[in-house]
Amino acid sequence: MILITGATGTIGSELVRLLAARGIPHRALTRDPSRARFGPGTEVVRGDYDTPDSLRAALTGVDAVFMVNVPGAAAPGAHDRTLLDAAVTAGARRAVKLSAIATGDPASGPFSQWHVPGEQALRDGTLEWTILRPTMFASNFLWWAPDIRAGRPVPDQYGGGAQGVVDPADIAAVAAEALLGDGHHGRTYTPTGPEALAVPRMAAALGTVLGRTLDTVELSTADNRARLLSIGIPEHSVDGVLEGLAFVRDGGNAVVTDDVERVLGRPPRTFEEWARDHKDAFA
Ligand SMILES: NC(=O)c1ccc[n+]([C@@H]2O[C@H](COP(=O)([O-])OP(=O)(O)OC[C@H]3O[C@@H](n4cnc5c(N)ncnc54)[C@H](OP(=O)(O)O)[C@@H]3O)[C@@H](O)[C@H]2O)c1
Repeated sequence: MILITGATGTIGSELVRLLAARGIPHRALTRDPSRARFGPGTEVVRGDYDTPDSLRAALTGVDAVFMVNVPGAAAPGAHDRTLLDAAVTAGARRAVKLSAIATGDPASGPFSQWHVPGEQALRDGTLEWTILRPTMFASNFLWWAPDIRAGRPVPDQYGGGAQGVVDPADIAAVAAEALLGDGHHGRTYTPTGPEALAVPRMAAALGTVLGRTLDTVELSTADNRARLLSIGIPEHSVDGVLEGLAFVRDGGNAVVTDDVERVLGRPPRTFEEWARDHKDAFA
């Protein structure tokens, strides 16, 4: 039995779909089961990191846990430690943590420290562990959809900086392998797509899928700041996010690995393949 935290989120929902398709017993954790939409093969359980008792119940009979932890009210690592303690108490053997590329690298800004304590808790603990540090998710670029549908240019937050943008489905597939397969204990993987792409090349790929040319427009730091505030990033976090954007602009995230291929035995999916799967959102 696999417990999937973050099961309603981007990566967790892909993992739920994948395990359900393979007929592997799994349990999807959410704070609100009434809002969750899963198929009949998925067991749903209520759970909240802020209510440790709910995690202990959710972990009953679980062999391995997929750990998703989002920045929020808790201190960095606190939710990871709560989940790990509950997993050990419940007798789980294995944990796979979703972390992030550049974790621990101060050059990428203060948010690079967010996953450091949680990763350390895994390394210091007694469970078999695997850490996934994926790069930028392709799904992040769904935010372009309103501009593209309205015929406006595609906004480039990254000043031409390239990234090995990865399909969330590939991250979930690597997670499934680490949860179920052998040889992944003690490994830290950095899943990326097959090539580093700046926004103009991503827009070109998306344009191919949509059958039209998409122009791009570079956002200034002031534009980026205004946008971050407009989507609800708290004022005190905006400078840190801007540091992360500058890191990308300066080439810090132009990283491509062969981790997806090594784990899955096939190349990672391209941004264009992801775009084809999500064409309707942009059309
Ligand atoms: N986006 C990127 O490009 C990127 C790149 C690299 C790494 N990452 C990492 O990916 C992680 C986010 O993954 P994601 O995008 O798949 O998640 P997501 O779509 O943001 O979803 C967040 C999930 O967390 C759950 N959650 C929130 N608070 C919770 C709580 N108190 N107790 C239990 N569950 C809670 C939510 O479940 P309910 O609401 O159903 O309870 C939801 O399923 C972050 O750690 C981030 O650092 C992101």
